[in-house]
Parts: sequence; structure tokens; C-alpha cells
Amino acid sequence: MSTVLGIESSCDETAAALVTDGRVILAQRIASQDEAHRPFGGVVPEIAARAHAERLTPLIEATLADAGMTLADVDAIAATAGPGLIGGVMVGLVTAKALAMASDKPLIAVNHLEGHALSPRLADETLAFPYLLLLVSGGHCQLLLVEGVGRYRRLATTIDDALGEAFDKTAKLLGLGYPGGPAVERLAREGDAKKVPLPRPLVGSAEPHFSFAGLKSAVMRAKVAMDAGQYTDADIAASFQQAAIDCLIDRTRRALAASGPVSALVVAGGVAANAAIRSALQGLADTHGLPFVAPPLALCTDNAAMIAWAGIERLGQNDPLDTPARPRWPL
Ligand code: KG4
Ligand code: ZN
Repeated sequence: MSTVLGIESSCDETAAALVTDGRVILAQRIASQDEAHRPFGGVVPEIAARAHAERLTPLIEATLADAGMTLADVDAIAATAGPGLIGGVMVGLVTAKALAMASDKPLIAVNHLEGHALSPRLADETLAFPYLLLLVSGGHCQLLLVEGVGRYRRLATTIDDALGEAFDKTAKLLGLGYPGGPAVERLAREGDAKKVPLPRPLVGSAEPHFSFAGLKSAVMRAKVAMDAGQYTDADIAASFQQAAIDCLIDRTRRALAASGPVSALVVAGGVAANAAIRSALQGLADTHGLPFVAPPLALCTDNAAMIAWAGIERLGQNDPLDTPARPRWPL
């Protein structure tokens, strides 16, 4: 049996996990920085880097202790090497390098997006390549054809904002606080999705990409116009969420037509926690006769188990100790 220690610190979650090649998460710890960033309505890179630096080492020690293990028991150390906020990525990667050097274990530098892309295979051993992955998070909105470990074809990406970012901005505008996605989803349940006319950028377009900037500005205009009193905040939330779903479904349908045969439609990333989005994607998969795979929520949002699992999938492909941290690193 092989065990990998995974480390994640590319955004605002400090996380460590121990995962085996038998798909068992032996232990995992995650320290969220939501409280630290809440007053600013978004992640402040400097605050994030400092918090990672303070928390990561004790968090790793606690994770090892939870599993009753020491570094001598792990087969490799996998850490996110990008893309993400450079200060945080450096904290995680430098820590991983130090541990690798001290324990004479191999380092595996993992692309954070690869972690998201492979995480569904940690939860579902029957998931076979190739599959179409919709990766929707605070920093990314992409459709990836996952053909194998290390073989990813990006079929679409956002030309402006990520969808999670649009959820967070909408939440801020409606005074719902940070992080905004879950709050918008909650409020949307009480609203009428047909009340506020909003655009569906790029829907029906021949090009493959996503765009959410126009939707975000339209939400802003709708909030200003609301003083006229025809609709509520809940109607804005519901209409926004429906517009976002229509965009996701249209673009994903287009990618399914372009990708060739796939074994499943898979969703990952923090926005995949949204139940309305999941059920719309399930419907799309059903019409294509495809299984729909959505990992458990804890594996959808940023976590270290997915980084450890990517390390398991790449076991033997070691990286040198001078591997750089990469703030931008397309898959
Ligand atoms: O994957 P993730 O944890 O971090 C990034 O790599 O970005 O995703 C976080 C994003 C945030 O923008 C958050 O608002 C969004 O995922 N999110 C949601 C929901 N839960 C989290 N968006 C919509 N509905 C949700 N229920
Ligand atoms: Zn992420």
C-alpha cells in the first residue's frame, strides 16, 4: 500500500491530507480563512499567505498524528505548485520541499487544476477515462476533456470572470457577505427566476467559451433599478442563478458534441456544491445517456485530499527540489 501526504495552500484554505492508493483518506485537516477575509469581501493575498505560513506546519503535524503516522510512513509528499496566489503556493511548496528533504521522500508538484480534475476518481473507482469535466470554482470556469493522468484537453474557459467570482460579487451586491455562493443559492430558493431579465452571454455561440462579466454588470444594474420595487433581492438571486445555469448547460452541451465519446459528465470545483447546478447537469447527462458524477462536497471545494490523490495517480513521477511555484500554470 502507498500513502501520499498532500498539501494545499493556493487560495484561502490551508489543508493537509493522507490518502492511500486504495482510495482511503486516512486523515485530513482543513483550516478555512473565511473569517480573516470576510471584512474585505474577498480573499486578500497578503493575509492569506501569512495565515498559511502560521498554520500549515502544525496542521500537517496534526494530520499525521490523526492517522497515527510519521513522515517515515509516507511514500511521497505532494503539494500544489500553482496556479494560485503566489504567496500561499510558495508556503505550501517550500514546506513540502523541506519535508521531502528532511525525510528523504520524493516531492510531487501538483497542478491545483489537476487535483480538481482527478478528484472524482478518488471518490468513484469506476470512473474511467476519458470524461468531460466541468470545473467551476472561484478562480476557474473550464471544460476539460480528461483523457488520462497528465492528459487534459481544455475545450473551453472563461474569457473574463469565473462563475464563483460572479456568485461572490452578486452576494456582495445583495449584502449577503462572503463567501457568497452558498448564500446566493439559499436566497435564490425564495425568489422567482423569471422576474429579472438577465443576459446569457455566449449562449448559442459557435465559440466554446464562457463569459460572466456581462451577467455580473446586469445584476448590478438590476439591483440599482430595484428601488422601483418590481422585484426583490431573492428574485435577483434566483434570476442570476438561472442565467448562470443556462450558460453552463449550453456550453457543456456544446462541449459534449465536440469532445467525441466520453464515459461520464463530471463536475468539480467549489461551485459544484450548488444543488440547482448539480440537478441541471444531471438532467443534461440524462439526455445524453451518460452517468453524471459529482464528488462529495468536501472534495469539490479546495482540499488537500485531491492533491494527495493526484500524487497517488502520479506516484513515481517525482519533481526536483528546485521546482518553481507557478502563479499561472495552465493544465
Ligand atoms: O473550489 P473553491 O473552493 O476555490 C477555488 O479554487 O476557487 O471554490 C470557491 C468558490 C467561491 O466562489 C464560492 O462562492 C463558490 O465556490 N461556491 C458556490 C457554492 N458554494 C461555494 N457557488 C454557488 N453555489 C454554492 N452553493
Ligand atoms: Zn480550487
